[in-house]
Amino acid sequence: NGPLVIAIDGPAASGKGTLAKRLALHYGLPHLDTGLLYRAVALTLIDEGTDLDDTAAAARAASALSAERLSDPRLRERAMGEAASRVSSVPEVRAALLSWQRRFAEGAEGAVLDGRDIGTVVCPEARVKLFIIAAPEERARRRHRELLGRGEETTLAAILADIRARDARDSSRAAAPLKAAEDAVVLDTTELDAEAAFAEAVAIVERLK
Ligand code: C5P
Repeated sequence: NGPLVIAIDGPAASGKGTLAKRLALHYGLPHLDTGLLYRAVALTLIDEGTDLDDTAAAARAASALSAERLSDPRLRERAMGEAASRVSSVPEVRAALLSWQRRFAEGAEGAVLDGRDIGTVVCPEARVKLFIIAAPEERARRRHRELLGRGEETTLAAILADIRARDARDSSRAAAPLKAAEDAVVLDTTELDAEAAFAEAVAIVERLK
């Protein structure tokens, strides 16, 4: 039944990234954090001094994206999530990044991909689809802790506002909005720590793979 592809979607700071990384390690699969692709497109525009609303420039940046860009530490900054969310609503950007993501997912050894539209658009045939959710307040607390750990000073209120704005934008856009695939298993991590969430996710993968 072919290589194992695990598609993980969910809103910002839901815990999907951590889960994806751990599942990839556990099953010996390559992992792609697809949010980094959108963040890298945004960073390219910022570095060029191009307006984030310039859709033609965003499409060009997406087509020309190089793998080296994905390891730039600035991609993880708070402002970059917001900027990524803006360029990600451009259909030409999504189309350019789609082929990149598909190539990654179609590798012979299988793959774990996490993002917003993996189960619905990028890998609709994935054997395992997880949709990770958590209450916005809990997601804000997690992101706050993570940013503080990296020395980025922000307030919890600012992060919660970011998260709500990003949820609204990602869920309402016309091109590949954030939503659970019909055959996705929804996992709510509000009350779970990383360890418990991982155990639940492995149980789901074992059932479906
Ligand atoms: O997951 P992360 O916070 O890094 O994603 C940044 C932004 O990139 C998201 O808010 C979303 O707008 C966009 N994105 C997307 N599709 C994906 C992954 C990320 O639209 N598969």
